[in-house]
Amino acid sequence: MAADRQKIVVLGVTGCIAAYKACEVTRSLLRSGVRVKVVMTEAATRFVGPLSFRTLTGEPVVTSLWDDPTASRVFHVSLAEEADVFVIAPCTANVLAKLAHGVADDMLTTVALATEAPLVLAPAMNTHMWWDEATQANLAALRERGAIIVEPDAGELVCGDVGKGRLAGLEAITAVVHAELERVQDLEGVRLLVTAGPTYEPIDPVRFIGNRSSGRTGYAIAEEAARRGAEVTLVSGPTELPDPFGCTVLRVQTAEEMHVAAMKAYGEADAVVATAAVTDLRPAEVSEHKLKKSDTPGALAFERTPDILAEMGAQKGKRVLIGFAAESQDLIPEARGKLERKHLDLVVANDITEPGLGFGSVRNRVSLVTSSDVEELPVMPKRELARVICDRTAALLRQKRRQ
Ligand code: C5P
Repeated sequence: MAADRQKIVVLGVTGCIAAYKACEVTRSLLRSGVRVKVVMTEAATRFVGPLSFRTLTGEPVVTSLWDDPTASRVFHVSLAEEADVFVIAPCTANVLAKLAHGVADDMLTTVALATEAPLVLAPAMNTHMWWDEATQANLAALRERGAIIVEPDAGELVCGDVGKGRLAGLEAITAVVHAELERVQDLEGVRLLVTAGPTYEPIDPVRFIGNRSSGRTGYAIAEEAARRGAEVTLVSGPTELPDPFGCTVLRVQTAEEMHVAAMKAYGEADAVVATAAVTDLRPAEVSEHKLKKSDTPGALAFERTPDILAEMGAQKGKRVLIGFAAESQDLIPEARGKLERKHLDLVVANDITEPGLGFGSVRNRVSLVTSSDVEELPVMPKRELARVICDRTAALLRQKRRQ
């Protein structure tokens, strides 16, 4: 994707009374200089005619899987690939539910499933539908997968009810779309190294010492950075996660293997985000054969594993280095200590005693610690945290370039 070509927003319009407001969203986006291509559900066409969007945008409007205005390629795939941002405004409860479950039974939901672009959803519905457990569960699932929700406003609804459910204001929707457009390709050309997951340190061929890291944060950062144009190398300890799209993935088991793979990639890297929960100690001796119950030693002797990030910090050059600190006490002083000892630009600190967050969970609450500042973030899905960390990486790289 060329960085200087005109940005394309694909706007999905679904069937509810707020569909007419999508015309205003279209005009506002066009005025800001982006190209807008509209996809409508069949139900949306009952509220607003495709001709309105066609006239505003000067582009064909698709309403069915069987429309193919280009007649050249697989249209839903080309539209999905062209999108820099895919925004659905208004998004009905029905379409939210379909997206949450990967249903792709019309053009709009098929493009939504096929696209790698950020998905911005602006729901609008009756307030009881909004607060229904099914809708809330669908929203939570979509947020965890990285969708950005522009929450509806509260107020008087067309049906006469009063409560949350009105489509968010034009400015709120377009501001989110513009923020996403700015992120598009802001890591272009950056060589980013991410370490992720736990490491397993063998005791014998079947037993090991490890930890509960799931690798989710690192994988989300790798995927988000690749989407924003970075050349990503992900060095991962054992996880159950699939390779993130668009990244070079090197799978390792032990701290020493991670050390070798990461230091090799480090030579070429502009920035490093070290999310790996590297096991600090390993058994000093590894038994070649499975230890029998009768041979099991009463105690194991340990030795330290290499501190990969500290070694990187000692030969930092102009690189941006971001580390993580999972602590159960003295969170901020510990994070600051790591920042200084390892020569880092930023430490992402999380308190591992918080129930239901962090290790093994899909959400986390962290503080971003620099030498001069502590920013406390609210609880958020790890996907959203990945966006924030990529924003900070891009900002730190810009700052370094200016120095
Ligand atoms: O010192 P501590 O392990 O708490 O530091 C955490 C940070 O250092 C994390 O970013 C982690 O990925 C990195 N680290 C490392 N190699 C180690 C231990 C930690 O790269 N052996």
